[in-house]
Amino acid sequence: MDFPNSTKFQIQQVSLFVILSIATLVPNPVFSTNQCAFPAIFNFGDSNSDTGGLAASIIAPKPPYGDTYFHRPAGRFSDGRLIIDFIAQSLGLPYISAYLDSLGTNFSHGANFATSASTIRPPPSVLPEGGFSPFYLDVQYTQFREFKPRTQFIRHQAGGIFASLMPQKDYFRKALYTFDIGQNDLGAGFFGNLSVQQVNATVPDIVNAFSENVKDIYDLGARSFWIHNIGPIGCLPYILASFLSAERDAYGCAKPYNEVAQYFNQKLKEAVVQLRRNLPQAAITYVDIYSVKYSLFSHPKKYGFELPLVACCGHGGKYNYSSVGCGESIEVNGTEIFVGSCERQSVRVNWDGIHFTEAAAKFIFDQISSGAFSEPPLPLNMACHKTYTNNY
Ligand SMILES: *[C@@H]1O[C@H](CO)[C@@H](O)[C@H](O)[C@H]1NC(C)=O
Ligand SMILES: *[C@@H]1O[C@H](CO)[C@@H](O)[C@H](O)[C@H]1NC(C)=O
Ligand SMILES: *[C@@H]1O[C@H](CO)[C@@H](O)[C@H](O)[C@H]1NC(C)=O
Ligand SMILES: *[C@@H]1O[C@H](CO)[C@@H](O)[C@H](O)[C@H]1NC(C)=O
Ligand SMILES: *[C@@H]1O[C@H](CO)[C@@H](O)[C@H](O)[C@H]1NC(C)=O
Repeated sequence: MDFPNSTKFQIQQVSLFVILSIATLVPNPVFSTNQCAFPAIFNFGDSNSDTGGLAASIIAPKPPYGDTYFHRPAGRFSDGRLIIDFIAQSLGLPYISAYLDSLGTNFSHGANFATSASTIRPPPSVLPEGGFSPFYLDVQYTQFREFKPRTQFIRHQAGGIFASLMPQKDYFRKALYTFDIGQNDLGAGFFGNLSVQQVNATVPDIVNAFSENVKDIYDLGARSFWIHNIGPIGCLPYILASFLSAERDAYGCAKPYNEVAQYFNQKLKEAVVQLRRNLPQAAITYVDIYSVKYSLFSHPKKYGFELPLVACCGHGGKYNYSSVGCGESIEVNGTEIFVGSCERQSVRVNWDGIHFTEAAAKFIFDQISSGAFSEPPLPLNMACHKTYTNNY
């Protein structure tokens, strides 16, 4: 994959698209080239976009999480900011508060229902004993469903400072609804002793459950959707170190695991096409984050990165990843060793074996926000426009 060329090509496509829209489609009010001025973001997902949900409810990341940017653990499973933080920042909005965080939160410009370790389908076991978040996508939807009327009740009944912490009523229709979830459904299968083929066979069911939630959120008034597909899970140390004998591709990623992710993305893309037919007033953008993330593994040097398959903050083996996690300690020959950060996290891709570094998140955000990896190919700040026909 030649990344810059394809980016350029797609950007040209965007311009062409925009010009065509101006030329032929202006009379239709839904076709417009204006920026969207999203007043709020409502996000659903897993650790790729959790800004403090799991930390407030079950398990909080410890130092050195957050070191790079916040200089303290900030509820994010990263050394710094996540893609969702860069999205909020670029739309001129504050970082979105986790819905589950009862301390110091401000929902005036959105809420984040994502929690780390969340799945789309009900998880096989839940934290802290089991492996997954109890707040799977159906629960995140339920929380949003309750959130919406309660915020309006508080705005009207409580007033004052309480009102100023709640979104305005029309923000729910005007907001950007973002999604980044699905990777843990595959992980649950892979680590639950299912074969790769068995996990692959569960994909249509997982994607159906995703679609149901998008539809339910639409029914509550959401109109602009920004849906990330899932990344190349087979390039992450937690998969690589656990499935040492899995076939590797040219860049050292575990090929069969990435193939399941690709199949998930293919079904997700089909589901989005169907959702556009079923939800006529929605503008739904499908974002191919897989390709952007994969370019960090296929051409790390080209983009200023190194050792993409090795965790920056981990311990042991080829991938610097084992059961001893980032921020924990291990005794080796009577000496206590703290699992801290590597030295140059700004040129590293993987932070802790599962999650990306802030540097990688920034790179990914820069690529996806242009629209070059979106279908339809609109930039982030134009994602409220329904620029496709229902047959797109
Ligand atoms: C909540 O955030 C908004 C936007 O940043 C700000 O205008 C408002 O004052 C904040 N409310 C409180 C109580 O801090
Ligand atoms: C998977 O199989 C191994 C070996 O048979 C067993 O030790 C482990 O508990 C199983 N894991 C799950 C999640 O079923
Ligand atoms: C997953 O299933 C699809 C549809 O049956 C198939 O085309 C694909 O090859 C499968 N992938 C893997 C890795 O099993
Ligand atoms: C621990 O001690 C053993 C025996 O002295 C030695 O072979 C091994 O390399 C040491 N391990 C580490 C990580 O230093
Ligand atoms: C592996 O993790 C340790 C922290 O335990 C870190 O000091 C080291 O730099 C990491 N190794 C690499 C190659 O990044």
